[in-house]
Amino acid sequence: MKYVSLAAIALWSASVLGAGAVQVRNEKDLYNNFDRIKRGAVLNDVFDIKQSLADQYNESETDDKCPPCFNCNLPNFECVQFSQCNTFTGRCECRDGYGGLDCSEPLCGSLSDGNNNRPSRQEPTCDCKPGWSGINCNMCTEDNVCDAFMPEGLSGTCYKSGIIVNKFHQMCDVTNPKIISILGGKKPQATFSCNRSAENCDFQFWIDQRESFYCSLNKCKLDYDLSANTTHYNCEEVACKCLPDRMLCGEAGSIDISEFLTETIKGPGDFSCDVADRTCRFSEPSMNDLIQSVFGDPYITLKCKSGECVHKSEIPGYDIPDKTKLTLNNIILIIGVALVCGLIIISGVHNINQSPLFKQSGEDLYEPFDADNAAMNKNFTPTTLSFENVSYTVKGQTVLKNVFGIVQPRECLAILGGSGAGKTTLLDILAGKNKGGIVTGDIYVNGNILENEDYKRIVGYVDQEDHLIPTLTVYETVLNSALLRLPRDMTLRQKEARVVEVLNELRILNIKDRVIGSDFKRGISGGEKRRVSIACELVTSPSVLFLDEPTSGLDAYNARNVIESLVKLSRDFNRTIVFTIHQPRSNIVSLFDKLILLSEGDLVYSGDMIKCNDYFARNGYQCPLGYNIADFLIDITVKHKQIGKSSSAETPDVHAEFTQTSGETDTTREWQHYAIHRDDFNHDHDTEEDTVVQYTGNLSTVFIESPIAGDIKQEITAIKESPIAIDVSRKRIKRASFLSQVLIVSSRTFKNLYRNPRLLLSHYFLSFLVGGFCGYLYYDVHNDISGFQNRLGLFFFVLAFFGFSSLTGLHSFSTERIIFIRERANNYYHPLSYYLSKIFCDVLPLRVFPPILLVSIIYPLVGLTMEHNAFLKTILVVVLFNVAVSVEMLIVGILIKEPGTSTMLGVLVLLLSLLFAGLFVNSEDLKGSIRWLEWVSVFHYAYEALSINEVKDLILKEKKYGLSIEVPGAVILSTFGFDVGAFWKDISYLGGLAVTFLIIGYVFLHYFTIEKR
Ligand SMILES: Nc1ncnc2c1ncn2[C@@H]1O[C@H](COP(=O)(O)OP(=O)(O)OP(=O)(O)O)[C@@H](O)[C@H]1O
Ligand SMILES: [Mg+2]
Repeated sequence: MKYVSLAAIALWSASVLGAGAVQVRNEKDLYNNFDRIKRGAVLNDVFDIKQSLADQYNESETDDKCPPCFNCNLPNFECVQFSQCNTFTGRCECRDGYGGLDCSEPLCGSLSDGNNNRPSRQEPTCDCKPGWSGINCNMCTEDNVCDAFMPEGLSGTCYKSGIIVNKFHQMCDVTNPKIISILGGKKPQATFSCNRSAENCDFQFWIDQRESFYCSLNKCKLDYDLSANTTHYNCEEVACKCLPDRMLCGEAGSIDISEFLTETIKGPGDFSCDVADRTCRFSEPSMNDLIQSVFGDPYITLKCKSGECVHKSEIPGYDIPDKTKLTLNNIILIIGVALVCGLIIISGVHNINQSPLFKQSGEDLYEPFDADNAAMNKNFTPTTLSFENVSYTVKGQTVLKNVFGIVQPRECLAILGGSGAGKTTLLDILAGKNKGGIVTGDIYVNGNILENEDYKRIVGYVDQEDHLIPTLTVYETVLNSALLRLPRDMTLRQKEARVVEVLNELRILNIKDRVIGSDFKRGISGGEKRRVSIACELVTSPSVLFLDEPTSGLDAYNARNVIESLVKLSRDFNRTIVFTIHQPRSNIVSLFDKLILLSEGDLVYSGDMIKCNDYFARNGYQCPLGYNIADFLIDITVKHKQIGKSSSAETPDVHAEFTQTSGETDTTREWQHYAIHRDDFNHDHDTEEDTVVQYTGNLSTVFIESPIAGDIKQEITAIKESPIAIDVSRKRIKRASFLSQVLIVSSRTFKNLYRNPRLLLSHYFLSFLVGGFCGYLYYDVHNDISGFQNRLGLFFFVLAFFGFSSLTGLHSFSTERIIFIRERANNYYHPLSYYLSKIFCDVLPLRVFPPILLVSIIYPLVGLTMEHNAFLKTILVVVLFNVAVSVEMLIVGILIKEPGTSTMLGVLVLLLSLLFAGLFVNSEDLKGSIRWLEWVSVFHYAYEALSINEVKDLILKEKKYGLSIEVPGAVILSTFGFDVGAFWKDISYLGGLAVTFLIIGYVFLHYFTIEKR
């Protein structure tokens, strides 16, 4: 049936259209034609179809209703305009601007849309898209429409001079007066197109925009003479054909030259133009004869317009401009940028210098600190701290067992015990620290259980180790704590006064302007550091202050000072103090109000200090007279066997002289006595083990059963049952606002940076050095292929330099990590304030100005393009890249604590993103599964943006082996897999990545960098 319809269509179209070279007048003709095609058929299957068609047609001559489909393989269908027939599809491959099945319909729209997407002409004339003209809209008139023919990102030019570059289209008006007059007002026109590489041209003749005949010109020589301003296209072969029933071709009332055209016109054809006034002539010997005889003109004269989309470098006679020299404006711009940066740095340093943190202290200047009215006492309520059943288990080991105790305002509670007894653990738990193990038990504040967050607002904590910023002075360190944590309502001068007061109390006022120092740069002594750490907490005067071994590392005199100032704080300001202590001197012990004694996690004593001697004596542990009670207590817990023996022994006591003496002890004699009997004291009880056993392990049970424990428990229950309500909201005193936190921490970070300028200077110095080196290496780069290579190499090196120097960010955070964790735990600031200040003062000075410096050096030296603000764009790219990559490294630093591992991971991240920059792997060859690595590679975006910015508009000229190559840089970039039009896309991705990294960095800092003890 199919074949039958094909035949029917053939018949129908042949009869209805009456067109085509092969006239099929009857079925016999059709079959003859089939036979002819059969002999010359290229494709057997195509022919087989025809054969079957013919067979079928023979069988059923009656089934002639369906006309055959168009198929140019069939003899009765023909492609007009000498278009090629695609033997595979049976369709005509139309020339530009023609459509329809047989390519006879002129198309409108624009050449750039492609024949398949162009609308065919519905009206007598075409409405072309803007920028296009001509009968079938093939001719460009504006440059911008030519961009569509260029590689992406490259702008095209509409070249109109009529000289062919690759493939041009001309639109001509016939100017022979006779022809015009004979047509009676109908406008004769011609379209002329040539393809240089195929060496052929087409010529169409139109009357009133209706095509009459067309010619195909082959074996053309396309010449132009630029000096004479002429073009000359000579074609050896010419073939022309009429469109049936068109004017001049058999339309009613007109002459018919169809036979003349097909039979007589053979060539050679000649199309010559004067480029300047656009007059052209088309001549072909037979055509000329005809024109001569009919109209009296020697040839067809024309007035033509031409349009071809080309890249400007392709325009004949286009001289690649030499590399532009630096203009005065360029120099001013570069210097201007450098100056602006310098000004920003200077004014930044100046402003930060004005910050209160930077002022040198002078104690005379401070307002007297009024304890009663001080704003810091405004929201304060005296706090009784009680706790019971506090136990702690970690890794299956019980560190604390059912500890309980109570401490009132104006009291100091000392936690004593041997090393490893659990003192720090108890203190941590009481201070509400985040512990790694299982904590049980209750802590009451005035009988209430508080939320951890509220609880932390009223307590202060001094660590066993000192974590201080080494570059700050003593005064600055304490002032920093005061500014961040004292109430907002206090004036700056009051805060400063408070700092001086605390420094004075702790006797470190004399060293207030000395820097803390570090392991590498000697600063204040260990004991002084201890006191600075204490001062940082003391200055805020929290309701409850916890201190872990505040006196360790101090000499006896200073140790007493410290404890005295704590006692003073508790007495004068009604504060509650809890601390652990090692080896306190007798006169220090006398300052304690309450005592908790621990022995390997067991509570051995909890209660008034004053009662402890009595209690132990009653239970068989008599402290030898003159013996330091604290030492004695430790001895009980650690080596209570021996002490127990000594107190229960009935043998004559060599120490009786001192144990029986009452009142004042002569310490010199005491010392002499113990020195003489040293060996007796140490060995005299080793033999009597049986008496010892009864005490072993019983200390805690003895205490639990004692009346003292009962009293304490009662006291705890009493306060629990009648709690004093605490207004939690009032406790939330307003400390430094978020903005001031950022400012204070920023100025501190900045100060740290400039007091330790090696890192800062090395970044600047290296940028200067690398800039100079690159300037020397790539000096005055040329606009040729090797210049292209040099440029890409330079950008790659610059990015790699900044990328790897961002590894220093890893170190800078790892050294501050512990300080941040401690300060965050002690409520100094919100982590976001720290993060922002880190970004402002650490990332910006190190990551923004060095690249600007480097770019300002290399640009004039290397001679990179300054057009289209390329210099400023480069700065933008490099700065964005540097910020993004350094924040990326910061994330690695935040995530991974160990410096070795974090450096390794940082290098790996950098290398991976370097690999996908676009130089080592062509973007288009990337496999889908790993393509995402390119999307997250900061190097890729920066490298692509830098290359596009520099090379896109360059025409690279290369002369090698006598050959001259001229290539637009954009073409090479596209070949390299870069997207030439993606500059702003790259910039936005870079910015987007920087912001994303910033957010991820903060999330990690917020959630993963938390104190855990
Ligand atoms: N997270 C932990 N993992 C393992 N053991 C722990 C942990 N925390 C505490 N301990 C153990 O608990 C015991 C008490 O430790 P803690 O630090 O409280 O002792 P301390 O009394 O403060 O000692 P020192 O006087 O030496 O500071 C120690 O034996 C310690 O090893
Ligand atoms: Mg400890």
